[in-house]
Amino acid sequence: MSKQSDTAHSPKQLQTDMHWKENIVYEIYVRSFNDSNGDGVGDLRGILEKIDYIADLGVTAVWLSPIFDSPNRDYGYDVIDYRNIHPQYGTLDDFDELLQALHDREIRLIMEIVPNHTSGDHPWFQAAISGPDNPYRDYYIWRSGDGKGNPPNNWTSFLGDSAWTLDESSGEYYFHTYASHQPDLNWENPKVREEIIGALDFWLEKGVDGFRVDTANVLSKNTDFPDTDDTERVQGSGEHFYKNGPRIHEYLREMREKAFSRYPVFTLGEASQVELEDVENYTLPERRELDLILMIEASKICDEPNDMWQSKPWKLSHMKDIMRKWLKDLHEDAWIGMYLSNHDHVRMVSYLGDDLEHREASAKMLAVFLMTLRGTPNLLQGEELGMTNAHFFNSIDDIKEQQALAYYEQRVHEKGEDPETILRRVLEKNRDHSRTPMQWTDEAGAGFTTGKPWQRINPNHSEINAAEQENDPHSVLNLYRRMISLRRDHPVLTLGTYEPVLDDHEHIYAYLRENDDERWLVVLNFSRTATACELPADLRQQLESADCVIGSDDSQAASFAQGPTDLDAYAYFVFRIG
Ligand code: GLC
Repeated sequence: MSKQSDTAHSPKQLQTDMHWKENIVYEIYVRSFNDSNGDGVGDLRGILEKIDYIADLGVTAVWLSPIFDSPNRDYGYDVIDYRNIHPQYGTLDDFDELLQALHDREIRLIMEIVPNHTSGDHPWFQAAISGPDNPYRDYYIWRSGDGKGNPPNNWTSFLGDSAWTLDESSGEYYFHTYASHQPDLNWENPKVREEIIGALDFWLEKGVDGFRVDTANVLSKNTDFPDTDDTERVQGSGEHFYKNGPRIHEYLREMREKAFSRYPVFTLGEASQVELEDVENYTLPERRELDLILMIEASKICDEPNDMWQSKPWKLSHMKDIMRKWLKDLHEDAWIGMYLSNHDHVRMVSYLGDDLEHREASAKMLAVFLMTLRGTPNLLQGEELGMTNAHFFNSIDDIKEQQALAYYEQRVHEKGEDPETILRRVLEKNRDHSRTPMQWTDEAGAGFTTGKPWQRINPNHSEINAAEQENDPHSVLNLYRRMISLRRDHPVLTLGTYEPVLDDHEHIYAYLRENDDERWLVVLNFSRTATACELPADLRQQLESADCVIGSDDSQAASFAQGPTDLDAYAYFVFRIG
């Protein structure tokens, strides 16, 4: 890649002719990426050591999971200082060096901001809890109980317990969407908004290129806090009273006006429980709120609606419905970020593919899928190697993430449910699957650390690792590099229309991507068995003179034009047909 001039540190000069829509984002879960000092935890200097690997992937932006100072009970999503870095990850000087190194390679740095809640250890909350008269009290949300020992309402948090915790000294309850150690900030208070905008400014002044705005659509609550009827729901039962809440657009516009709009940056909003109209309201450019909403539905396709820890089988028709909504029905000027997995979900090859017999084939098919969908793709570290779930986890002691631990605790210890059933659910779906350390080499420590890793390393690093894949032209890694470069060279894959083909097929997923200049056809076999595929006659005809630009098998690619073709398990083909 070409290097930029010495002045690249200024974000204004970094702005290239690439519009923000055309980014390809690589998620770095910092704790698990690369450990430079042997303490078992990934860090900023570890990322610097791998800077050329990141550049060689061809991605245009990296998103860093939160690196703020934090007690790390939710690994940085529990902030105690929005303007400082956790010592385990490094220093502000390391951060500046990393930012410069990325900018030198024309890669943008996207920070995380967690505006909805702080850690209970944050000095603001420590002051707030010291008494109702403290000036910081109103930084958080306090209400009285019902006088009979019950919390102000019946909502549950996303950890499944009450969304309210009693402060015994004052007799009042504080509100938390997530864990009780993550109290929600009171966005009704203008001082809170100023504090967050000040923190954004701090990083913007340093030259960061954007933010993932954590839980972006929950900031404004229905301040009457009415009871919910949704009592079947285990986690987040009151959410329709605070997702896309009454003042949310005002708050986002304020952040945009006072912070983001003053710099050439872009924003990715994390938001669940959104429909087309919500995403349009958040992202249509003239509304001046967020640039894109991260589309969460595909990664939750197996979740039972009332309890995310219980799974249901997923069908390709459901995936097609999800994509139709977000890629075809959404207003053409609204925008989404597309991901199949991130640090909150299991590994995509394990739930959408087959991580045993067809691991490599299905990881490649998913690479082609993610890189040919409309929207801004977000790729989780390790997906480019086809890293899998941690099937070696076998006890609750292997799990470190708080949502899984809370579910186990509530179900087994408080409700007395069958420990084996609950353990099975937790082992299947915990978020640590996507957080095991990067598999750089087949050595002990997987090239991730020379010390004791904070989370166990997947033993399959002996076969699945970056070093092994680096020089194999047919590896998952090298396919990702080719797909990313194809996407960068052909904006139609980002911006073009999306039109499903063979929409009723149970195993084949095919679609056209088109703009004024180009027309592309993607054909994917989502099944672990060979599947017959017959394209409509007009497409067959066009394929007679088309190039298969990327495909899993040349002879199968050539036979589409003739008639029904037997496709191998997880076969993939990308044709340029015009
Ligand atoms: C977001 C983050 C998740 C975190 C939660 C609470 O969903 O992605 O990791 O636990 O917010 O901040």
